[in-house]
Amino acid sequence: MPTAMSLEWPTDDFSRIPFAAYLDEDIYVEEQERIFRGPVWSYLALEAEIPNTGDFITTYVGDTPVLVNRQRDGQVSAFVNRCMHRGSMLKRECRGNATMHTCLYHQWAYDLTGQLRAVPFAKGHMGRGGLPPDFDIKSVKLTSMRVESYQGVLFGTFSDETEPLVDYLGDNVRAELDRVFNRPISLLGYQRQRILGNWKLYNDNVRDPNHGALLHMFHATFGLYRPTQRGGVKMDDRHRHNISYSMMGTSDDDADAEAFAGTQKVFDKGFRLEDPSMLQYDKEYPDDVSLTILSIFPNMVMQQITNSLCTRQIQTRGPGELELYWTYFGYTDDDEKMTQHRLNQANLVGPGGLISMEDGEAVEMVHRAVKREQDEHGIVEIGGKGEIADHDYLVTEIPIRGFWSYYYELMCIEAEQAA
Ligand code: FES
Ligand SMILES: [Fe+2]
Repeated sequence: MPTAMSLEWPTDDFSRIPFAAYLDEDIYVEEQERIFRGPVWSYLALEAEIPNTGDFITTYVGDTPVLVNRQRDGQVSAFVNRCMHRGSMLKRECRGNATMHTCLYHQWAYDLTGQLRAVPFAKGHMGRGGLPPDFDIKSVKLTSMRVESYQGVLFGTFSDETEPLVDYLGDNVRAELDRVFNRPISLLGYQRQRILGNWKLYNDNVRDPNHGALLHMFHATFGLYRPTQRGGVKMDDRHRHNISYSMMGTSDDDADAEAFAGTQKVFDKGFRLEDPSMLQYDKEYPDDVSLTILSIFPNMVMQQITNSLCTRQIQTRGPGELELYWTYFGYTDDDEKMTQHRLNQANLVGPGGLISMEDGEAVEMVHRAVKREQDEHGIVEIGGKGEIADHDYLVTEIPIRGFWSYYYELMCIEAEQAA
């Protein structure tokens, strides 16, 4: 059985990525154990989605179905969304409110702490059948995860070894969450997107500011993002998470036209929008940053693209498929005009978004093309080789090497230590 350890890693700075890591079924299974059930915090949901007792959402951590609910004491708990009887998915709805969770199959019912409370026909009928007298209902509980919240963002882990969430996130990520979640949020809606590619290709994509104005013509042409703007990347100490940030209006159109001269017309000064309101940034933070892409290992992205705010959750569906789950939000103190503006700008992203549609396509293009290239490697040298560190420029893909360095730690070094 191939393992991540047995892959060929030709350089020790992760400037070469073995394509087999995106393709192999056994490695995918190993990732579910070592990463998604390992010592990491996975993004689950926003607390604002489940404000009241009994509110629940269903989601996935890797490919494990998970049920998240708010208990009577106000605490949030998360469980494997699997009935303890014979394993049926317990909740099928995306979200709702319930005082008990009752399985569709044979109606075993669990309370909000995951405790089994009721089994229909437990005593059989007319003294015959049912559960044996020594069956202890109290001993049956849903399999739970540890849950922690930071600024209303809920994370869960299956491992007792996982460090406290605040340490896992680190200073830079906490600062970005403090920045965006600086006041109560209100939910604006959801989108879902199937992408036929490996989940790590999406993680690569969001840690790659270099593609932002080459793949995305809309960004380059209308100046929402260009690598010529002021900006950079910031990671945590272990380089597993990243924040790419940039500031609109800090570059010059004429100079940019020259900088883009060698490209296939991704930046065309001749284009204008009939209604430019979608490009408008109503500044709402103390800094001048107009775009941030925050990536938290292994399954979360949060964006601020001007006034469009959302989280994106990466759910794995096998080595060759992922589902992205988009949650859009604004603030409770937004007026109607601002809400409409955010909804208008939501058209930039999501499955059919003027920018994000291309990311899904890029992931699929890579996955299709490397499918029979298990022994080949991708080149990750833009921004430089060697040291992985924060920097204040945008023609870079160094955070991708950060992602893979931590991936390697979890999948190879820790695996070797455990062996
Ligand atoms: S599988 Fe859930 S009640 Fe039987
Ligand atoms: Fe992109």
